Amino acid sequence: MRKVFLGNTGIEISPVGLGCMGFTHAYGDPIPEKEAADKIRKAYDIGYTFFDTAQRYTGIWPDGTIAYNETVVGEALKEIRDQVVIATKCGISMVNGMRTLDSRPETIKNSLDDSLLRLQTDYVDLYYLHSMDEHTDIEQVAYTMKELYEQGKIRAWGISQCDEKALRKAHAVFPVSAVQLRYSMMARWEERIFPACKELGITFVAFSPMANGFLTGKYDGRTVNGSTSKADFRTMMPQFTEEGYQANKELLNYLGELANEKQATMAQISLAWMENKDIDIVPIPGSTKLERLEENFNSSRIIMTTEEVQSIDQILDRIANGPVFGKR
Ligand SMILES: NC(=O)c1ccc[n+]([C@@H]2O[C@H](COP(=O)([O-])OP(=O)(O)OC[C@H]3O[C@@H](n4cnc5c(N)ncnc54)[C@H](OP(=O)(O)O)[C@@H]3O)[C@@H](O)[C@H]2O)c1
Repeated sequence: MRKVFLGNTGIEISPVGLGCMGFTHAYGDPIPEKEAADKIRKAYDIGYTFFDTAQRYTGIWPDGTIAYNETVVGEALKEIRDQVVIATKCGISMVNGMRTLDSRPETIKNSLDDSLLRLQTDYVDLYYLHSMDEHTDIEQVAYTMKELYEQGKIRAWGISQCDEKALRKAHAVFPVSAVQLRYSMMARWEERIFPACKELGITFVAFSPMANGFLTGKYDGRTVNGSTSKADFRTMMPQFTEEGYQANKELLNYLGELANEKQATMAQISLAWMENKDIDIVPIPGSTKLERLEENFNSSRIIMTTEEVQSIDQILDRIANGPVFGKR
C-alpha cells in the first residue's frame, strides 16, 4: 500500500481518508451519535488513520439541538487519539441562519478552542481554513496558523477551496501542508494547481471524490430525487437529476467497463484513478455504511500504471462533460 505523508511534516496518513461529514450534515438527517461514532471507530480497524471533519458540518438531532460532527468524531477516536490524524476546519459559521465566512485571527483562535473541546483533544493534526474570506488577507491567516502551531495546538495547516495565488502567498508566510479541493472524474478543473502542490511539497486532499456518490453507479436520475429531506443537499445537485444522469451516462458506462476489467467496483476505480496519479492525492470519500467504508478503503490496493492513468485522462477529456455540483 502507498505510504503517504502530510506535506513535508513527516506525519503519515492512510492513502484514503474518511470524510466524516455525512454522519451529521448534507445527506439527510444525522445518524444517531452512538452508531456514527461506532462506525468511525471501526473505520480505524479497516485501516483509515486520516479523518476529516469541520466546525461547519452540523445537523439537527431529533430533540432540536445541534448535531456537531466534531463531537461524534471526538467520541469515536478519543481512545486511539495518538494513532490517528484528525483534520478539522474553521472559517465558515452560521450567523442568524446565514452562512458567514470569517477568518479573522480572533475568530480562528476561538473556533479552534471550541473544536478542541468537541473533539476531546488538546491538538488538531491538520487545521484548515475552510473557505477564504475576502476581508481577511490569506497572509494574516497564515500568521494566525503559525501562532497556533507554536502554541502546540495544531501540527500542520491547510487551505480548502483556494487558488494557486493564495496558496503561494500563504505558503511564503508559514508552510502549508495540504490543500483540500473538489476533485473527481467529473470535476477536474483543480488539476491546474497540481504543479504548485508538487513544487511546494503540498498534499492534495480530494473532497467529493466520487462526485457526491454519483460515480459509484448506485444512483440514477430517480434514486436521490425521491428524497424530500431539505437536509439532503443532493436534491440540489445537477448530477442527481434525470437530465444529469442521461448527460453523464457515457462516463458511467466507461467507468463500469474499467471496473469489470480490474475486477473492482466503480467506486474503487474512481478513487484508484486519482490515488495512482504522479502527485500525492489523498481522497476522503464519505460513507455512513460499514461495507462501503471497506470498499472505498480497498481502492488503495488497486495498482494502475502511469500509462493507464493517462489513457483514462484522455478518455475523460472527451466524455466527462455532464453537469456536476460545484463547478467553478
Ligand atoms: N472542503 C470542503 O469544502 C468540503 C466539501 C464537501 C465535502 N468535504 C469532505 O469530503 C468528504 C467526502 O465528500 P462528499 O461526501 O461530498 O462526497 P463523496 O465522498 O464523493 O460521496 C459521498 C456519498 O457517496 C455515497 N457513497 C460513498 N461510498 C459509496 C459506495 N462505495 N457506493 C455507493 N455510494 C457510496 C455516500 O452515501 P452513504 O453514506 O449512503 O454510503 C454519500 O452520500 C466529506 O465527508 C467531507 O469530509 C469537504
